[in-house]
Amino acid sequence: MEIKLQSLTKVFVAKDKKETVAVNNMDITIPSGKLIGLLGPSGCGKSTTLYMIAGLLEPTAGKIYFGDEDVTNTPPELRGIGLVFQNYALYPHMTVAQNIMFPLENIKVPKAEALERAQEMADLVGIGELMNRKPKELSGGQQQRVAIARALVKKPRVLLLDEPLSNLDARLRLQTREEIKRIQRETGITTIFVTHDQEEAMSISDEIVLMEAGIKQQVGVPQDVYDQPDNLFVAKFLGTPPINTFAGKLEAGKIMLAGHNIGKVESKTNQEVLIGIRPEGFNVVEKSKLSLPIYMVETIGRDTALIIKDPNDEAKTFRAIVDSSHRIKPGDTVNFAIKPDKLYVFNKDTGELVK
Ligand SMILES: Nc1ncnc2c1ncn2[C@@H]1O[C@H](COP(=O)(O)OP(=O)(O)OP(=O)(O)O)[C@@H](O)[C@H]1O
Ligand SMILES: [Mg+2]
Repeated sequence: MEIKLQSLTKVFVAKDKKETVAVNNMDITIPSGKLIGLLGPSGCGKSTTLYMIAGLLEPTAGKIYFGDEDVTNTPPELRGIGLVFQNYALYPHMTVAQNIMFPLENIKVPKAEALERAQEMADLVGIGELMNRKPKELSGGQQQRVAIARALVKKPRVLLLDEPLSNLDARLRLQTREEIKRIQRETGITTIFVTHDQEEAMSISDEIVLMEAGIKQQVGVPQDVYDQPDNLFVAKFLGTPPINTFAGKLEAGKIMLAGHNIGKVESKTNQEVLIGIRPEGFNVVEKSKLSLPIYMVETIGRDTALIIKDPNDEAKTFRAIVDSSHRIKPGDTVNFAIKPDKLYVFNKDTGELVK
């Protein structure tokens, strides 16, 4: 089921009449059968967007379509959505089976059929053996699977997940996210997965929608957005360690960092800019003009992180990730060349990418 948001806006008005624009004029088309990661920092409007799609919050303006159907004013129970929250929200006094069957009881599906469908969903999410347990007898990951099975049992058109993994420990998070990906693939259900964790969104999503302050920043296949960020916010939000930024200049198409020409751009305007270089964008070379003293070295298995003084500002450092075979020591001076595909130039004032 394709989902289309058209100029979707939500303004919250507090008692003192102060307005918060939680979602600002969002236009997105979510392709049918895909898993979309809705990503952004805390407070950027992810949950608000999701709850408008679910019908739990009424938009201030704009429209929501499921396929050709305008569902903007359709009550939540008629939208055909399954919703999963961060805290699972299972009924503690009910068994796993009763929890999963609960949405079917509401629509008066006969008991035997309900149980059969619940078992099918439990098998799908890998908890088929646990039907008679109570939620407190399950691990966090298992509880979350019950919540997912419950969301799927009515065969929704759309699955909406709001930070479903954030209560799980690191290992379980990883495992459960792979599980969600598998379930989504097997069912082919259009899924929106809300998270503030860029690594999680990048690894699980067919496409990501990156938001900030209620505004859509960029939409695309995770690797494309990482490689071709439209602006500084996007470049900084994706990637660990984060992109390094330096004050720099454009001079007749040359990118100048601390007086060194480190690359080129099409733009021929001379201007002050912000230069962005991904940590993996530094090549250690025999000879170059960009020679920098190494301040600290951290070796982490395959990679070495070099901590280097910012050529513009002695008080600041930045990180380069290089192959550990280079055997660089603190105090060494290293020659660097910058990989052109890891080098970006941003407008100093607007943060927009300069091409
Ligand atoms: N019921 C409400 N009344 C007033 N303001 C609200 C309400 N719900 C959310 N907001 C505000 O709207 C903005 C967006 O909130 P939202 O919950 O959508 O963010 P989020 O991206 O889901 O954040 P998080 O990652 O912390 O869950 C925030 O500034 C928040 O304070
Ligand atoms: Mg939220």
